Amino acid sequence: MKKTSPASKNLTATVSQISLAQREKRNRHRGCVLWFTGLSASGKSTIANELEAALFARGCQTFVLDGDRVRHGLCSDLDFSEKSRHENIRRVGEVAKLFSDAGFICLAAFISPYRADRNLVRAMAGENFVEVFVNAPLSVCELRDPKGLYAKARAHQIKNFTGVSAPYEPPLNPEIEIRTDKLTVAEAVQKSIRHLQKMKFIKAR
Ligand code: ADX
Repeated sequence: MKKTSPASKNLTATVSQISLAQREKRNRHRGCVLWFTGLSASGKSTIANELEAALFARGCQTFVLDGDRVRHGLCSDLDFSEKSRHENIRRVGEVAKLFSDAGFICLAAFISPYRADRNLVRAMAGENFVEVFVNAPLSVCELRDPKGLYAKARAHQIKNFTGVSAPYEPPLNPEIEIRTDKLTVAEAVQKSIRHLQKMKFIKAR
């Protein structure tokens, strides 16, 4: 999937007086995009929210974007067809990049089932992109089924449901992989924090 170019040719970008370096100096951490991908009920939003709370407690500027929230507003016109999912991830990738440019640690939790879409958002965010594969077997996600959606998908009441009647392409080389059937949420948060320190996105304490 290609990056879109503007529909109008009559556009002139303005330049902010505040640089990213100035924002990062004030925040005392780097801006970045933490992109959580995985099946529905794999634990993406749970881990993203717990990690946000831990980072916020350390004084970081943070914000969580997730599918269930964004699809009520920015992406309320989109369904779960392949085309709409591409557009969902493209829009959210642009928003996450804006947060990262503003010096925030943006935690984006989306199924984002297509590798090409995740590669697109990776290209948008550049070196400040961390792909977090929230990995749990489909059978485990299906047993959890907190929203009852897998049961509905198996009963053909929901179409194009990821893992059941729509594909999920697992990351080939994620920066972080979290097996949520093996790690606790607290362990997943610790693992992510260690990685962010190692990559110098945040300082060690
Ligand atoms: S994505 O595929 O476009 O990245 P997104 O993360 O925004 O998906 O939304 C996923 C959430 O929408 C799921 O957690 C689930 O609650 C809900 N949902 C509703 N219908 C579907 C469907 N057909 N496939 C997957 N998730 C769905």
